[in-house]
Amino acid sequence: MENLKGKTAFITGGASGIGLALAHACCEEGMKVVIADIRQSAIDEALATFTDKSSVHALMLDVTDRKAFEKAADEAEAKFGNIHLLVNNAGIGCARGGLWEVSYAQTDVALDINLTAVLTGLQIFIPRMLKHGEGGHVVSTASKAALIAVPGCGLYNLTKQALISMTETLVSDLQGTTVGASVFCPGPFKSSLGQTSGEIEKIFLENEPGYKEPEAPKPRPGFDMSAFERNTRPAQEAAVRILRGVKRNDLYIFTHSEFKKGFEDRVNAMLRAFPDEKPNEEFCNAFGFLVSNPAITQQTQVPALDN
Ligand code: NAI
Repeated sequence: MENLKGKTAFITGGASGIGLALAHACCEEGMKVVIADIRQSAIDEALATFTDKSSVHALMLDVTDRKAFEKAADEAEAKFGNIHLLVNNAGIGCARGGLWEVSYAQTDVALDINLTAVLTGLQIFIPRMLKHGEGGHVVSTASKAALIAVPGCGLYNLTKQALISMTETLVSDLQGTTVGASVFCPGPFKSSLGQTSGEIEKIFLENEPGYKEPEAPKPRPGFDMSAFERNTRPAQEAAVRILRGVKRNDLYIFTHSEFKKGFEDRVNAMLRAFPDEKPNEEFCNAFGFLVSNPAITQQTQVPALDN
């Protein structure tokens, strides 16, 4: 979607952090914006940051409630007309610990918010975008953790990695339509994710037997917090990168070249895991749809942000 002016965006988790920065960036592009978030207090604070409120509409929504999500889409359309950009940004940090240590309830919350609700967003909005035919785009926010697994964060890693597969399938299935899709895989950006995730886990889990408020994670050995904070980028930059990716129709919106080497190591490890045998050409021809996904070759080299 090259031209965003006059279009409308629906941003889940839009009341803080990257989602809120993106809402402002969309307004600066001349878009109308709907912010949907589970925390009313954050919505109130977010709305106060907009000087011109005529282009913004906020609603309280728990994205894991499918019926409420559908109603929110109806409300957004009633307010601003057709929706052109869906940003599945709502997410939580997820319970830490080995995958064998996190509880069933923590697992369900992580999957419901970070994965199933993203799918719900697509299921609600893509049919509407295809129907109005004015062009559409869906961004699903994964993480750098989808590219290089973070030790001790299994729930987060797996929910975010699933969004890559989801988007790669989407771009393939949406070929020839007016709707595009991107998966956003940010590195560290300033936001309230750490604090918000605890608050949200509490909303979902406080009535579970044995619920304990999450403790602040222990610093990893040798971790330099001040260097981390100095190198955590402003949420506004994430917003710029997302909108540039939408305009370019990038399948993958990445933010930090610092992760390229670690990702390359992963891809190379996978390549080494293929048996050192000559591929059967007849098999490749017969099962073309299994051996490659041509839709992903749409991704071109992304220039540095200044260019
Ligand atoms: P944030 O905590 O400031 O924003 C997330 C928003 O999602 C919050 O306003 C929260 O209330 C909302 N939310 C959570 N569960 C919800 C639900 N069930 N229904 C509706 N709204 C809900 O954090 P941030 O960092 O801006 O996070 C945005 C996205 O970016 C998340 O998906 C996160 O996983 C991802 N991300 C962030 C990174 C960072 O460094 N900030 C790095 C990698 C990924």
